[in-house]
Amino acid sequence: MRILSGVQPSGTLHLGNFYGAIDQHIQLQNTTGRPEDAFYFIANFHSLTTIHDAARLRDLTRDVALDYLALGLDPNKATFFRQSDVPEVCELTWLLSCCVGKGLLERAHSYKDKIARGIEPSMGLFNYPVLMAADILIYRSTVVPVGKDQQQHVEMAQDMAQSFNAAFGKEVFLRPEWRFSQAPTLLGIDGAKMSKSYNNTIPIFLPEGLTEKKIFRTYFAPIKTDSKTVEDPKDPQDTLMTLYRAIAPAEAAEFEPVYTRGGVGYGEIKQRICKAYIERFTPATERRARIAADPDYVEGVLEQGAKRAREVARQVMAEAREAAGIVVARATH
Ligand code: ADP
Ligand code: TRP
Repeated sequence: MRILSGVQPSGTLHLGNFYGAIDQHIQLQNTTGRPEDAFYFIANFHSLTTIHDAARLRDLTRDVALDYLALGLDPNKATFFRQSDVPEVCELTWLLSCCVGKGLLERAHSYKDKIARGIEPSMGLFNYPVLMAADILIYRSTVVPVGKDQQQHVEMAQDMAQSFNAAFGKEVFLRPEWRFSQAPTLLGIDGAKMSKSYNNTIPIFLPEGLTEKKIFRTYFAPIKTDSKTVEDPKDPQDTLMTLYRAIAPAEAAEFEPVYTRGGVGYGEIKQRICKAYIERFTPATERRARIAADPDYVEGVLEQGAKRAREVARQVMAEAREAAGIVVARATH
């Protein structure tokens, strides 16, 4: 089994990203325990479809590395690297592009959504699923933990593996399967899905210099609720209880009967969630600051990860070239 997932460096990560994706990645590394079984990478080539600012992309790429390491990614249990450190994925993207129908890519939901929002598509945006398929297939990944929004992209990778193998009559690529997180979608401060694009997020890392009171006032007091009074029974599936359950499951389970019976107000549960949040994420915030002070360590982890990942990619790429009849001088590879 090889687990693989990518994260785009596209902005400050929030609790939805943590419980919907990162938490699962970190836990999976512990179930396998060997770096060759769990591959996680920073999808900086993918971010180029939206970010055209070199300094910003560099900063965001470093930020994701710090975020994952601070949250517990262990380089002895998982292979962690930058997508761009394995340039073979771009070569494979081309080989796959020649085996996939344009119609399949035109049916991609994420592409269609972006067009519907008036975005002028680049070829990169159109080809996004092919690069993602190359990411998955070049490491012979079998399990791809992603959010539901990425299901179609993994299905396309399955299709592309099959079309390549069929076109050249060789089983070069394995069929990958997606795996969804069990965590429910978290809602943001305004009651819509928590998302970087909606400006309604609670960050994973505590913002520097904010007191507990200020954190409460900034992120928790404004969470939208209905007009139920203290006495009214509350919905155990509402935004607050869902958030509480994600952050502090044992405490939330104890609190739930009182909440559903009535007798506690929204103010109290918000205070509890804020406290639990600070307790849960203070150690990671401190760890992040320590890691940020040691850029050589971070670069070392990424270099070691790239070396391991590239070794696999080179071998699979050699098989793909051989199957397709692409010849390269031995000295160059
Ligand atoms: P965003 O909507 O903030 O741009 P992304 O689309 O980059 O987030 O998602 C990165 C990962 O985080 C995906 O696996 C996605 O399923 C997960 N995720 C994002 N928002 C939430 C949320 N509100 N609740 C649960 N998971 C989420
Ligand atoms: N498209 C994914 C996202 O936006 C990121 C990604 C790129 C990815 N390549 C991947 C995820 C390969 C899993 C496997 O979340």
